[in-house]
Amino acid sequence: MAGAAASLPERLRAHFGHREHLYGVLLAEMAEDWERGGVTRELLAGWEGAEARQVPQLRLLAGLFRIVLRGEAPQLLPFYPVLGGRADPAGAWKVVRPVLRAHAAELRASLEHPPQTNEPGRAVALLVGLAEAVRRTGMHRVRLLEPGASGGLGLLVDHYRFEGEGWSAGPPDAGLVVTGCGAPGFSPEPFEVVSRRGCDIAPVDTSGADGATLFTSFVWPWMLERHARLEAALAEARRHPVAVDRASAAAWVRDQLARPAPAGVLTVVWHSVTRMYWPVEETLAMEAAVEEARGRMPLAHVSLEHGWPEGGVVTARDDDLVPRVELDGAVLGTAGHHGPPLTLGGS
Ligand SMILES: C[S@@+](CC[C@H](N)C(=O)[O-])C[C@H]1O[C@@H](n2cnc3c(N)ncnc32)[C@H](O)[C@@H]1O
Repeated sequence: MAGAAASLPERLRAHFGHREHLYGVLLAEMAEDWERGGVTRELLAGWEGAEARQVPQLRLLAGLFRIVLRGEAPQLLPFYPVLGGRADPAGAWKVVRPVLRAHAAELRASLEHPPQTNEPGRAVALLVGLAEAVRRTGMHRVRLLEPGASGGLGLLVDHYRFEGEGWSAGPPDAGLVVTGCGAPGFSPEPFEVVSRRGCDIAPVDTSGADGATLFTSFVWPWMLERHARLEAALAEARRHPVAVDRASAAAWVRDQLARPAPAGVLTVVWHSVTRMYWPVEETLAMEAAVEEARGRMPLAHVSLEHGWPEGGVVTARDDDLVPRVELDGAVLGTAGHHGPPLTLGGS
């Protein structure tokens, strides 16, 4: 990836660094278009000095994808594999450029929306953490609390089926089957979620078309498996709506833990791939709230997060790091960035 000092077109070119898929082609073409003073320069005006982590190029591609998903640019369908397209991406730019021009105002507005995803496959880490917590405590009834829940899809863990090496878990008729979960030797435990609730600083309402379109637009259009998982999880969320409060992690967790769970219910605080976005103080305050509550209730803390280096600052790109599954601070294993496969073992 180009460094912070790189110019905007350099960053567009370097983001994927090849032309092997649609977005690689489009970013390379946008870089050239920007240098020629074309529509890309107009769209990204004001973003020239953006920090690399703001990735305006991904915001723009997602905005374009939303226009395609809404059916307003049918001429682009052949370039989106998830929508059935099979055309060579090399030919995309001349079709895309007029769409960028025609939807310039909306695309400029789409730059304000940071990338936001909700990966239901990550619930496999919760499944593994929950099983271990249930084994240790002997408590099978669970209150689930998830800070950084996005649309709350991870909170539906008991509605999904998971298939790993030599094991499976979850309802046989589940709408979402997360396959390829790995983790040979894992032994699931029965559990019942008696209540579930999440929070996010930017919660996404998954009950309507807008939330579904938003999440879909941030998944690369050629990643068919991720799209299939997301679509199935969104259908589950429509059947079983989950409350996600607009709140930041630490204050919300403290608030939730101030309310005792019913007798015999294990409280599980769970989060995935969100801590790296929190200020350091947020992490420290949430952990303090969890530790304080342990004295008052049976509680397990399960997470799928990247390592938290000294000072709490993650410097590498998140997809360069391997997320760890942790239960109460001990590593149970590692997982893929989007969940499967999971490998058991750790501290
Ligand atoms: C990469 S997404 C992961 C969402 C979900 N946990 C998953 O694994 O699919 C990170 C989420 O963290 C949320 N977030 C970032 N900072 C937060 C904070 N301080 N408190 C609560 N949520 C936060 C973002 O809005 C976003 O929805």
